[in-house]
Amino acid sequence: MTSDEAYPAERESGEGRTGRRGARRAFLAAALRNPGQFGAVAPSSPSLAAVIASVVPTAGAPVVVELGPGTGAMTTAIEARLAPDARHVAIELDPRMVGFLRQAHPGLEVVEGDAVKLHALLAECGIEQADAVVSGLPWALFDEATQVSILAQVASVIGSDGVFATFAYRHGMALAAARRFRRTLHATFAEVVLTPTVWRNMPPAFVYVCRRPRTL
Ligand SMILES: C[S@@+](CC[C@H](N)C(=O)[O-])C[C@H]1O[C@@H](n2cnc3c(N)ncnc32)[C@H](O)[C@@H]1O
Repeated sequence: MTSDEAYPAERESGEGRTGRRGARRAFLAAALRNPGQFGAVAPSSPSLAAVIASVVPTAGAPVVVELGPGTGAMTTAIEARLAPDARHVAIELDPRMVGFLRQAHPGLEVVEGDAVKLHALLAECGIEQADAVVSGLPWALFDEATQVSILAQVASVIGSDGVFATFAYRHGMALAAARRFRRTLHATFAEVVLTPTVWRNMPPAFVYVCRRPRTL
């Protein structure tokens, strides 16, 4: 049996280089190497991933864009919902995470690049509009101009019918950076809904679900 053939069973059992344990190890190594780009030491839990992925349409042929997929915790939950004709594009800055994702998720279109160039990166894939944009980006590590720029591009990509979802840690809600991000979300989208806290995540987190960009 080749290593490729062995891969799905390994992933299912959580073992192997691209299984859940391998993903946790790869994530921690990357986060320690580059803490200023990760903002977390462990991937999102399946519970948080399921909540954030719940915005992804289950029928038809939607275009779904994932920002900052890391080792693919949310990718797995998104893939589980997608019909065969859907398009799932992931934009990731860290080259090692890109390599990990390409091996672990062969059906995923992985683009190595900076989410701040969202329009240009999607244009290279022939994409102008997406039905859903799902983010695992560490917003608190970005300056305000970067947050505003990425969110403005997300808003134009989802248009009037799409949805944007991103998570935040509950313990950080009162921090100035989190309050500023929330203000920017409200300035960008007419509809910003917070989900209940997902306690089965380390640390506990919630999801912002945003629709109806104000610029349209
Ligand atoms: C907190 S991790 C989240 C990973 C995964 N979505 C999860 O929930 O487990 C943040 C990820 O965003 C990536 N990232 C950070 N800045 C980025 C940027 N400007 N463009 C694209 N990816 C970025 C990091 O390399 C990392 O993989």
